[in-house]
Amino acid sequence: MYTVKQIKDTFLNYFEKNGHKIIDGASIVPENDPTLLFINAGMAPMKKVFTGEQEPQAKRMCNVQNCIRTIDIDSIGDRHHLSSFYMLGSWSIGDYFKEGAIHYAFELLTKGFNIPKEKLYVTVFSGDEKRGIPADNESIEHWKKNGIPESHIIRCGFEDNFWRIGGDHDAGPCGPCTEMFYDTGAEHGANYEETGIFDDKNRYIEIWNAGVFMEYYQDENGNYTKLKMKSVDTGSGLERMIMTLNGLESAYDTEVFLPIIEYLQNNSKNPVLESLRIIADHVRTSIFILNAGVEPSNVKRGYVLRRLIRRAIRHMRTIGLEDSKIPELLMLTMDNMKKIDLEPKWNYSKNEIVDKFMAEFAKFSKSLEQGVKAFNDYVKDENNIKGGKLDSKIAFKLFDTFGFPLEITKELASEKGLTVDEKEFNELFEKHREISKTEGTFKSGLADHSEETIKLHTATHLLQAGLRHVLGNHVYQRGSNITPERLRFDFNFERKMTPEEVKEVENFVNKAISDAIPVVREEMSLEDAKKTGAIGLFTDKYGDRVSVYTIGNISKELCSGPHVNNTSELKHFRILKEESSSSGVRRIKAVVEN
Ligand code: ALA
Repeated sequence: MYTVKQIKDTFLNYFEKNGHKIIDGASIVPENDPTLLFINAGMAPMKKVFTGEQEPQAKRMCNVQNCIRTIDIDSIGDRHHLSSFYMLGSWSIGDYFKEGAIHYAFELLTKGFNIPKEKLYVTVFSGDEKRGIPADNESIEHWKKNGIPESHIIRCGFEDNFWRIGGDHDAGPCGPCTEMFYDTGAEHGANYEETGIFDDKNRYIEIWNAGVFMEYYQDENGNYTKLKMKSVDTGSGLERMIMTLNGLESAYDTEVFLPIIEYLQNNSKNPVLESLRIIADHVRTSIFILNAGVEPSNVKRGYVLRRLIRRAIRHMRTIGLEDSKIPELLMLTMDNMKKIDLEPKWNYSKNEIVDKFMAEFAKFSKSLEQGVKAFNDYVKDENNIKGGKLDSKIAFKLFDTFGFPLEITKELASEKGLTVDEKEFNELFEKHREISKTEGTFKSGLADHSEETIKLHTATHLLQAGLRHVLGNHVYQRGSNITPERLRFDFNFERKMTPEEVKEVENFVNKAISDAIPVVREEMSLEDAKKTGAIGLFTDKYGDRVSVYTIGNISKELCSGPHVNNTSELKHFRILKEESSSSGVRRIKAVVEN
C-alpha cells in the first residue's frame, strides 16, 4: 500500500532530481486576487508568473497545494469527488515545453510509481476552429515516442482538454492540455478499445493533468492572444492518486478518510454510506477554511463555509450521530491530517477550530429541526409541489427563515421525489442579496440570528417607537448592537432622561408586548416605503426594492430583519441603563425576560 507520504515524496523527489525547486503551498484564500474565492489549482497563486508580470521563484518548480473546489458539491459522496484536495503540481516557466512535460509525466508514472504502461490512457486536444486554436498533434507524437499506442490516445475538444482558470469571462493564462488516465479494470465499465467509448467517470480515472501548455491568454471577452513565453502547468489530485495506486474503491477508503469513516460508522445508528462520505468530506474542508480565518456568513467565502458546515450537520442528523460527538469527530479529523502528514499550516489551535465549528452548529441546529418540520408541512400542500417541483419561494423561505442552503432543500426534496429549480432559487437569492446590500446603511447590528437576538431586535423597534412617543418624533436611531444577552440602542437626545421617562418608555414597550401585535414584513419599492411613512435612512444608496417591518400602528421601519412573528414572544422588556454615548447621543441597554 502506498501512503500519502510516499506519494508526495516520490513526486517531489522526482521533480527535484530533475532540476525543479520545491516551493511552499499558498493559503487557500488567494492573496490580492479578488476574482477567485479559493485557490483551486496549484497554478492559481502564480497566474502572473505565466503572463510574465511576475518573476518566478525558479524556472522549474513543484509543490503540494491545498485546493478548494466546491463546484461539484452535488457529486460528493461518489467514488472520487471531493470539495477539497491536495494538488501535486509541477511547472516549467518559459523552459521545457511539450516534449519535456510528456517525458517527465510518463517516466514518473511508469518508473516512479511502477504503473504498467498498458494501464495508462491519455487525452489530447483536438482543436477548436471557432476560437482559432489548432489541434495538439505534437503531443500525440511525443506520447507515441514514449510508448503509448495510438489505441490509448483519445482526442478531445475544448470542454475537456483546454484548461483555463474559470469560464468565458475570467481573464488569465490558459492552453490545451493532455491528461493521463488509469484503467481501473473491467469491473468498473466497458473497455475503450472495444467500444470506442471512453468512460472517464468510472473505469478510467484521471490521475494527472500532465501538462497544460500555457501559451494563450484569455481576456474578459473570451478572446485569445499568444503569451510571450510558453510554459507548462501540471496537476494531480493526491487523494485520487492514492486511491488509484492502491486499487481502492473510493477516496474514502484511503488513509485520508478511512479512520473518519470508521469513526462515523461506529457512532451512528443509521450509517448511510453517502452521508458518511459527505460528512467526512465537508468536515475536512470546513476545517481548512476555518483555519484560513474565514467565518461562516451569507456571502462569498463565508457562505461556502456555511453551506459545508450546515450540510454536514444535516447528514450527521441523518446517520444519528450524537451532537456531543461532533468535537471528537473534528479532533480526529485534524489528528489524522497530522498522522498522515497532510495538514495545513495551522493558524489556530485545534480547540479554536472546534469552537468556531460548534458556534455555527449552535446557530443552525435548532432551526434545522424547525425547518425540516416546516418543509414537511409545506409539501403537504399540493399548491407548493405542482408538477413534482417544489415551489422556489418555499426553497427560498427555507433559506431566509431557517438558514437552509439550497443543497439541503434539494436533498429533502429529492427524498420526497421532488425537484427544485435552482435558477429560480438563485434569482430570488440575488434579489434578496440586493435588498440586504441596499439596507446595509441601516444595519441592525445583530451578532447572530439566535432566538434571543431576534427577540431583542424586535424589542429595538418597539424601543425606538417608545422613545419617539415619549420624547418626541425628532428622536432617531443612531446605532444598534444586539447580542443574545442584551440590546444596545443609541439615539439622538440632548439630555439625560428622567427616571419617569425611562419608566414610561419601558411601559410603552411592555404594553405593545401584552397587546400581542403581529410583526409584518413587506417588500416594496423605495418610493412606496417612503409613502408609508416608514422610518429609516432614506439615502440614494438604496436599490429599488426594500423590506419594511410593521408592528400594528406603532412602528414601521425599513429593515432587513429578522424579527419575531408576534410581539407577545418578547414576554417582558426591561431597561437596564440609560447613559451618555457621545455628545448629543444617548445609549440604552435593555433585555427581554420571561
Ligand atoms: N491547472 C491544471 C489543473 O488544475 C493543472 O488541472
